[in-house]
Amino acid sequence: MRKRIPTLSEHQVTPEGQYLSRRTLISGALATGVSLLSGTSDATSPTGTPLRATRNSTLSVSVPANSWDDITSYNNYYEFGTDKADPAANAGKLITHPWTVTIGGEADITGPIALEDLLKPHALEERIYRLRCVEAWSMVVPWVGIPLADVLKRFKPTSKAKFVRFTTLNDPAQMPGVRSRVLSWPYTEGLRMDEAMHPLSLLAVGLYGRTLPNQNGAPLRLVVPWKYGFKSIKAIVRIDFVERLPRSSWMNANPTEYGFYANVNPSVDHPRWSQASERHIGGGLFAARQPTLPFNGYAEQVADLYRGMDLKAQF
Ligand code: MTE
Repeated sequence: MRKRIPTLSEHQVTPEGQYLSRRTLISGALATGVSLLSGTSDATSPTGTPLRATRNSTLSVSVPANSWDDITSYNNYYEFGTDKADPAANAGKLITHPWTVTIGGEADITGPIALEDLLKPHALEERIYRLRCVEAWSMVVPWVGIPLADVLKRFKPTSKAKFVRFTTLNDPAQMPGVRSRVLSWPYTEGLRMDEAMHPLSLLAVGLYGRTLPNQNGAPLRLVVPWKYGFKSIKAIVRIDFVERLPRSSWMNANPTEYGFYANVNPSVDHPRWSQASERHIGGGLFAARQPTLPFNGYAEQVADLYRGMDLKAQF
């Protein structure tokens, strides 16, 4: 197994022995009487550097997480191909250390910052979130990360900062998929400032207590659990504070199918399929589809952000 060089500071990395006992604890806590593996066999052991993170139970769901295999072998990451198996097959060689994130736009502090320095002041949290893809499948993922708001505030956004735009690395030498015109590159995504500052918005650096595998967006990705999975941009190299609504790669690809908000909404169908229900990955071939919940089950926490908006028009 190739050992990854940690890009985290010492207080964020767990010694291996401690991690193993901790993982047992997590499994117990997560499982709540049901198998952690949700019916599938955990054929592959988690890889990556163990991380020291404290579970945020308040912001975690209490249903079993999907297996490591489910989460790391069924992915969307078009820079590495459009098939679900492509990212796991093709992203392994992406160089994720050293990694620099450039902060730009309407903020007092801007410029490049090494990932270690971006993360250093923050304690890592583990949060178990539901992930709902626009393709009408879902998973439950134990992420490790830091609140996006805590990171953004450090750069002192100005009053002109109404939105945040995120940009993925665009390197044809390492990312074979960017030679195809399936999306506009670099991959970009955006959030309204209040969405970005919401306590549920997470910058993830790990999953299952270890640094992120490349196919899941190493070394840094966004997780916004009440929005469709495509908002969760991977391998972030730029964060810009902007005045105008930023266009995402999915809006550029097909503005009638993918809107800026992309809030999970069972009553607003994708033009080509229903969003009323979803297939839970790992549930087995004959598992019943589950009804999709408004805001992916996070309505109580986030519905207020959209009060007064017509969510059919602003999808
Ligand atoms: N980020 C980049 N850079 N490129 C992508 O193609 N796909 C998105 C999102 N982030 C994507 C991306 C989509 S469509 C989904 S559903 C989620 O990543 C999937 O995250 P996962 O593979 O960790 O489940």
